[in-house]
Amino acid sequence: MANKTVVIGISSLILSISAFAADPDISKLPPAAKQAGVTFEKDIKPLFETSCLKCHGAEKPKSKYRVDSREAAIKGGKSDEAAVIAGKSEKSPIIHFIADLVEDMEMPPKDKRDKYPALKPDQIGLIRAWIDQGAK
Ligand code: HEC
Repeated sequence: MANKTVVIGISSLILSISAFAADPDISKLPPAAKQAGVTFEKDIKPLFETSCLKCHGAEKPKSKYRVDSREAAIKGGKSDEAAVIAGKSEKSPIIHFIADLVEDMEMPPKDKRDKYPALKPDQIGLIRAWIDQGAK
């Protein structure tokens, strides 16, 4: 019963879904902060400690992703995709997730934000600046 129209219909549906997933609308991102010399230890770790660490710490990290060290935060988790692309904040999945550009991957998860506050636009901007400056 496999009919060509159905097959073509399903493949174009899959194509449009993957195109959507690969292409978050970066025009909605808050701008990178102007601050110079942004570092993980000084500026970024405190933000992660408040909003991410409970789920992405040493103990049973969600999606095997940890933010307690610079190296781990860059590397990513189970997805096998780097979370941070140094020098390119607008292409870094972590930025897409914290700015709510990827449906069902909003970080912190939308239904947990009473306990783990969403990052504010200026905090997202600071993380962008850190990445754009080479994620030092
Ligand atoms: C309440 C728990 C919780 C909090 C808080 C949380 N996350 Fe997550 N995170 C998850 C879960 C669950 C997944 C897996 C989601 C999935 O794959 O559907 C995930 C996945 C991720 C991934 C993908 C990792 C990979 O490569 O597989 C990244 C990156 C991420 N989170 C970043 C963050 C950041 C940054 C914060 C803080 C701003 C944060 N998360 C806060 C639960 C949390």
